[in-house]
Amino acid sequence: MRHFKVGIAFAAIAMLVAAPAVKADEIVIKFSHVVAENTPKGQAANKFKALVEQRLAGKVKVEVFPNSQLFNDNTVLQAMLLGDVQLAAPSLSKFGKYTKKLPIFDLPFLFKNIQAAERFQQGPAGQKLLMSMESKGLIGLGYLHNGTKQLSASKPLRVPADAKGLKFRIQTSDVLAAQFEAVDALPLKKAFSEVFTLLQTKAIDGQENTWSNIYSKKFFEVQDYITESNHGLIDYLVVTGAEFWNGLPADIRTEVKKALDEAIAHGNKVALQKAVSDRKLIMDSGRTKILQLSDSERKKWVEVMKPVWKKFEDQIGKDLIDAAVASNVGS
Ligand code: SIN
Repeated sequence: MRHFKVGIAFAAIAMLVAAPAVKADEIVIKFSHVVAENTPKGQAANKFKALVEQRLAGKVKVEVFPNSQLFNDNTVLQAMLLGDVQLAAPSLSKFGKYTKKLPIFDLPFLFKNIQAAERFQQGPAGQKLLMSMESKGLIGLGYLHNGTKQLSASKPLRVPADAKGLKFRIQTSDVLAAQFEAVDALPLKKAFSEVFTLLQTKAIDGQENTWSNIYSKKFFEVQDYITESNHGLIDYLVVTGAEFWNGLPADIRTEVKKALDEAIAHGNKVALQKAVSDRKLIMDSGRTKILQLSDSERKKWVEVMKPVWKKFEDQIGKDLIDAAVASNVGS
């Protein structure tokens, strides 16, 4: 027995010695996210890893942790400030603790489509927002798309009154809470990793998400109806810790940023494709019914939810909201 234990100890030491160890001066970038790998964010993260490891081999190593394996979105930013993770791309709805401005992206019916959101993000106001949390130790490196949100529920939602009294999971955003309160529903802030079980066990009645997230996390298998509402969007802020980022050697930082920009461009292409293909996969599955809104039904949702803008106007700033609205021109 004693020989056996000694043998195991030697084997463990040998494995440690033989492991492809991180070289002493190699920089490790841990990229934590909550979605599946077959999503815009999952694909962007994997592309980033491939590009960095091809161009900065031996200098920078990237470790990607999908599916909330390392942190969920409610803990990742704190972990980043502690230096436990270097890159993440939480949804823009999850920064309310750090900035009053980013919740602009949650205002219902703000952008006509992803192209309008892209114009706003790449314009001067959107670019300024990237640095809105610098004093809190977080730097935004770019925006990444996922898509527009649909409402799913255990019953058909055609007009706002249909949502009355239902429990909806929301991301950690006060704007999203106000959006559901506007239709007399009950919003519950829960981590993305909990949504499937909450729906399956009927602890909640519905949720809002993109076609890609509804498909990849199988929400459509446990929701009888999806209303194609396109009432908001889920996009991401690719974020890093200021201390980590500013501490990188300048040449490495430039290369890492270049790889990230290319990975984001790749993720954005995937986002456009998945908004169509994952919707089709859900429809073809026959597991849920996709409801289209008539113009007059859609108008009712807009009328009831739009007053949320006024509620957050002082916090977000009217100028910023006006700039976002202006980006709809051309859509
Ligand atoms: C994500 O797409 O990263 C998660 C969105 C959510 O929490 O619903």
